[in-house]
Amino acid sequence: MKKRLGPSDRLYPMPASLICGGTMEEADACAVAWMGICATNPPRVAVALRESRRTLELIRVTGTFTVNTPRADDAAYADFFGIVSGHQRDKFAGSGWTLEPSDLVEAPRIAECPYQLECRVEQEVELGSHVLLIAEVVESHAEEGVLDATGEKVDVALLDPLVYIAGSREYRRLGEKVADAYTIGKTIG
Ligand SMILES: Cc1cc2nc3c(=O)[nH]c(=O)nc-3n(C[C@H](O)[C@H](O)[C@H](O)COP(=O)(O)O)c2cc1C
Repeated sequence: MKKRLGPSDRLYPMPASLICGGTMEEADACAVAWMGICATNPPRVAVALRESRRTLELIRVTGTFTVNTPRADDAAYADFFGIVSGHQRDKFAGSGWTLEPSDLVEAPRIAECPYQLECRVEQEVELGSHVLLIAEVVESHAEEGVLDATGEKVDVALLDPLVYIAGSREYRRLGEKVADAYTIGKTIG
């Protein structure tokens, strides 16, 4: 028996990403869970931001941003970026976290995050509570220490990304592998 819960903005889990806008001289970043990959060729990401975010102001200056994946062990830093606004404080000075330049876009990357995407905004879609930024992912970076044996792909166990659970408002890390995708389904039918 299922219980109806009404209209919902929740999916389980959600990413706990840090979106960074601005330049090496003036940057801001905020925690974002309302986001996801939405196309492959070219790769595109969709990020939902409230109009009030200072990060959005800075994204609009250059038309670029970066997506930075924090480690689960860095939940306190990620949360700091999600509860403090750049309208009040410089979060990089406040946290001690640092910026590194991107290769293809003006927006910098967050050096302490082991996986990063460089993005160029293509469209803004007004959604009421949020503005949806649809952006092309023009480059990606991963720390060598989170790559698998081929050296070409991220090993998610090594990445150990922080994930966010809406509703209970908690951070978690991923559990163990369950099965191989595009394979285990062949055992059915
Ligand atoms: C776990 C978590 C997830 C969040 N997800 C979003 C989001 O998807 N979109 C958004 O606009 N704000 C989101 N926020 C809130 C912003 O990160 C927060 O308001 C931040 O202080 C904005 O900083 P800024 O004004 O410097 O950009 C989230 C906060 C937390 C803690």
